[in-house]
Amino acid sequence: MTTESLNGPLEISADTWWVGRREGSLLERNIFLRSFRQNGKPVVNMLIDPGPPADLMTLTKKVGQVIGNLRNVNLVFANHQDPDVAYNAGYLQKLNPNISVVCSEDTWRLIRFYDLDPKRYYATERFKRQALNLTTGHELRFVPTPFCHFRGATMLYDLESRILFTGDLFGGLSYVPELWADERHWEGMKAFHQIYMPVQEAMALAVRSIRALDPKPVMLAPQHGALITGGWIDFFLDRLENLPVGLNLLLDSQQKDNYLAAMNELLMELGRGVGAGPIAQAMKVFGEDNSISSVIHADAKGVRDIRIDPSTAIDIFIRRLHELIPEQSDLVEMATVKVLLGRNIPLPDAMASIQGAASPEFLEID
Ligand SMILES: [Fe+2]
Ligand SMILES: [Fe+2]
Repeated sequence: MTTESLNGPLEISADTWWVGRREGSLLERNIFLRSFRQNGKPVVNMLIDPGPPADLMTLTKKVGQVIGNLRNVNLVFANHQDPDVAYNAGYLQKLNPNISVVCSEDTWRLIRFYDLDPKRYYATERFKRQALNLTTGHELRFVPTPFCHFRGATMLYDLESRILFTGDLFGGLSYVPELWADERHWEGMKAFHQIYMPVQEAMALAVRSIRALDPKPVMLAPQHGALITGGWIDFFLDRLENLPVGLNLLLDSQQKDNYLAAMNELLMELGRGVGAGPIAQAMKVFGEDNSISSVIHADAKGVRDIRIDPSTAIDIFIRRLHELIPEQSDLVEMATVKVLLGRNIPLPDAMASIQGAASPEFLEID
């Protein structure tokens, strides 16, 4: 599919149109229009994740091409409250005050600040079995995906088309512009989730909920990036289920690799200040001193491994550096502050005096 065909509304399934915009950025938004018909006539027109103001003109044009006018939209569904997802809901309700908004209660508490009418709001939690049955005979199911990425994020499953509208989940940065996903989209999807999703467990829970859907979806329609069909659904479910994201990455980075890198960075910093000779000499001692080598493995090229918990190891490492080059204690101290703060590593207890330094005499602080 070329980007050319995305200039107008694109019918991705019977009575379901992609009405988003492509601007050539990394964070493109998808907006979907669904018409539910009874006896061939459109009765209910629903917008899913109506997007930000930047997409409003495109949305107006494309929706107009399908259902005559944006005013003919009766229902807005919002996965969560983020402005890229839901800001336009406020404009839509100004245009047509009768538009109803459906979202989770957690989402409503925030989305209402887009000046939405509380009398036209329906909580997904209010519907029995988390399913909305329209007078046209269609059924929409709500599938909560807590903490993906918002605690109240909720997907929408259209039972007739078997399209699952997933919100940010399965969204991707547009390294590849095509609207239909294949393996080339993984890098963009991975990067997006690593940035925006808080923790892998939340995604694994969401993947479980998707796998439990009966009937199985034939299309995943996220709010960013490409749409996923056929065998690619399982491909991306498997990959996302096991992807460390957000907090997982942060915690990892504070652990062993980060501490190891910090030690070597510290040696480089000190090398700049005191020269390579004293540092090489110190590393030789590290390699030969049993009391150190049992916890920190080092050779002439630097620190190779930590064999105890990283924060204790870095304390020992810094203390030994002070002992080995006592005449350069100020440099060791400054390099330690610079490197550790740069890597989000707490300063060792021995340096508490730096963190809690007394206020200068000229400042009156209680
Ligand atoms: Fe979001
Ligand atoms: Fe988003």
